[in-house]
Amino acid sequence: MVIKIKCLPAKTKINYKKYTLKTNKQIILKNRPVGLPGKDTWELIENNIPEPQEGEILIQCEYISLDPAMRGWLNDAKSYIAPVQIDDVMRAGGVGKVIVSKHSYFKVGDHVYGQTGVQQYALTDGKGYHKVDPNLAPLATYTSSLGMPGMTAYFGILEVGKLKEGDAVLVSGAAGAVGSVVGQIAKIKNCKVIGIAGGEDKCKYLTNELGFDSAIDYKNDDIKAKLKEFFPKGIDVYFDNVGGEILDLALGRLALHARIVICGAISQYNNTEAVVGPSNYLSLLVNRASMTGMVVFDYAKDYSKASMQMGQWMLEGKLKSKEDIYEGIENFYETFLRLFSGEKLGKLVLKVSED
Ligand SMILES: NC(=O)c1ccc[n+]([C@@H]2O[C@H](COP(=O)([O-])OP(=O)(O)OC[C@H]3O[C@@H](n4cnc5c(N)ncnc54)[C@H](OP(=O)(O)O)[C@@H]3O)[C@@H](O)[C@H]2O)c1
Repeated sequence: MVIKIKCLPAKTKINYKKYTLKTNKQIILKNRPVGLPGKDTWELIENNIPEPQEGEILIQCEYISLDPAMRGWLNDAKSYIAPVQIDDVMRAGGVGKVIVSKHSYFKVGDHVYGQTGVQQYALTDGKGYHKVDPNLAPLATYTSSLGMPGMTAYFGILEVGKLKEGDAVLVSGAAGAVGSVVGQIAKIKNCKVIGIAGGEDKCKYLTNELGFDSAIDYKNDDIKAKLKEFFPKGIDVYFDNVGGEILDLALGRLALHARIVICGAISQYNNTEAVVGPSNYLSLLVNRASMTGMVVFDYAKDYSKASMQMGQWMLEGKLKSKEDIYEGIENFYETFLRLFSGEKLGKLVLKVSED
């Protein structure tokens, strides 16, 4: 990645004693990728640290959340959210500390979560931000089980999946941020849970650490045969994070009145050709089943209720949160690629502060 020093004229004279760093390193979108993003997709630049005006806060970013959705935001296509524009800071959720405040609600020293973008300092009017408490959970957990992926798992499996006690549940992307929480919630609700993940180590993690009943290694196992073995009466709920062939195989093994939650399709995000769709869809008809897409932001008004429940489960030791943290904004590109190579466990996070 190119490092370019870009010093914009500061509006006011900056008192650098307030800041740990002298400049704001930012990751800027430079080119829209086709397929897997190449190194020239982004550029690392350095800018002056902005000064908040009335009603604004300056946040020193600590941890940036790296999510598969970021790949979709690079495409110039209609979606549930506008694409990131060329030369804009790459959109991302993040947690950090308020270091300057001219805002009535957010005070210096508050820790906050919001759409900080991939940068070391974020200037905002506070819209869409909320306070988080580092004494209740490690800060990075607010990008993970107590953040957007956790909310996705919670509302996806309970509301969209209409989970019932005793259901036989299949979850793909099971060792990832969303899937690992989905499976644990289903275990809390006394369901039988089978996870799909890539490789023996991840499968062992699901059964030994997270309490899944069994796991399927999609890179080495015969998935169809394993589904037959683990779901003799069919799948009641399939939580789909990956799409493609695995979705099709799950469709072929549904129970009567099964529910499929279409949460994501990570196996398709870097496709250069048409998305691979399911051919087994008539199984929905035969089994009077449903397949429903979800977007987590639709549940925003209920996040605090869900966070309290998730926090309670964590305190009781029923829910484990795993963050895989890499360091250095300079390493954004290489770290981002881990979303698609599978070289990470749990929630992928980038630490961008330098202290
Ligand atoms: N609808 C919403 O509102 C919403 C919100 C958040 C996330 N999502 C979606 O939910 C899915 C999971 O998100 P996440 O945050 O949990 O991501 P994550 O932490 O990166 O987990 C995704 C997992 O998918 C697996 N994977 C990667 N490529 C794959 C492939 N080609 N085939 C099968 N598995 C593959 C990876 O592990 P292994 O391959 O090593 O097993 C990884 O652990 C994504 O599709 C994301 O876009 C949707």
